[in-house]
Amino acid sequence: MQELVDELEAQHGLSREGYIELIDGRTPEVAALLAQRADAVRRSIYGNAVFTRGLIEISNICKNDCLYCGIRRSNRNITRYRLDPNTIVACAREGYEYGYRTIVLQGGENTTYYTDEVLCDVVRRIVDACPDTAVTLSMGERGRESFQKLFDAGATRYLLRHETADASHYRQLHPKGMTLASRMQCLRDLREIGYMVGAGMMVGSPFQTTAHLAADLSFIQEFKPDMCGLGPFIPHHDTPFANEPAGTLELTLYLLSIVRLIHPPILLPATTALGTIDPMGREKGMQAGANVVMPNLSPVDVRKDYALYDNKICTGDESAVCRGCLARRMASVGYEVVVDRGDIRL
Ligand code: SAM
Ligand code: FES
Repeated sequence: MQELVDELEAQHGLSREGYIELIDGRTPEVAALLAQRADAVRRSIYGNAVFTRGLIEISNICKNDCLYCGIRRSNRNITRYRLDPNTIVACAREGYEYGYRTIVLQGGENTTYYTDEVLCDVVRRIVDACPDTAVTLSMGERGRESFQKLFDAGATRYLLRHETADASHYRQLHPKGMTLASRMQCLRDLREIGYMVGAGMMVGSPFQTTAHLAADLSFIQEFKPDMCGLGPFIPHHDTPFANEPAGTLELTLYLLSIVRLIHPPILLPATTALGTIDPMGREKGMQAGANVVMPNLSPVDVRKDYALYDNKICTGDESAVCRGCLARRMASVGYEVVVDRGDIRL
């Protein structure tokens, strides 16, 4: 196993079989070795800095029906909301005052209300109101023209997890009509347009095998996304996967370390989902090689309605409290939350 870890670090990748061996043969000792190497690599590029992204959950209205997701179209038991442009810009300004230099607008897939015109206008207003701040979008699949217009309006980063790099697994997680090919085309379009692109997957999603994870890691090795959202799957009680087990802390941390070694400068969040399955999940994520956290900037009254999974943390805290809380948590394990756009250092 030590040889595999050495090879991964030196070559920034392994064969599919190598990944399978590394995952299936994992022990606490190998996990500790990987985490130590990942943390050292990360420190050599970013020191002990933790970048923050202020996350505004702009709407839970979605035309999709992803089987794992609590805000899927078929869920009739949630209150649907969408934030109007003035509210979104006000949240972004508030975030800027607190020290965020990246604002992420995330929401269900919905082009009826958030037309290109409406979203472009919001992006332009945030760019004007918040100097030297990156605007990131995470609004699902839109057409290439739409991506281009939003880029021209000033959005420079886009998060679109690939969810799984295996087409048949993708079909098990999504309804008919959603395809891995279309997801991957979006990622390629985004990159060609000039965005910094984020991919990623859930750990422990239903039907996931080691071979699927190896395919995800091979994809990351080849595509080299600028960012990678990697958090545990957590069931939501109003979805078809309500009774499926959640992904584990242990495997998520292990994969964070591997991804850091595959692409050393990658921007890697310790996700809210990781903090949900373990009270120290995000701190442990940093120690495993992550370097980003994404505190919530959404208005408190809508937070509980953006329930992608059960027991999501930080749904009751004011935005200022979230930032302070995370800064303290990171400091407790020797990392420092900084005021910075947090661009990738290639
Ligand atoms: N609609 C956009 C999209 O599809 O990219 C952004 C919103 S979507 C809710 C953001 C991410 O949440 C998804 O990419 C998915 O990986 C994650 N997610 C959804 N349901 C989840 C669950 N039950 N557990 C963990 N993560 C989940
Ligand atoms: Fe659309 Fe989850 S199904 S955001």
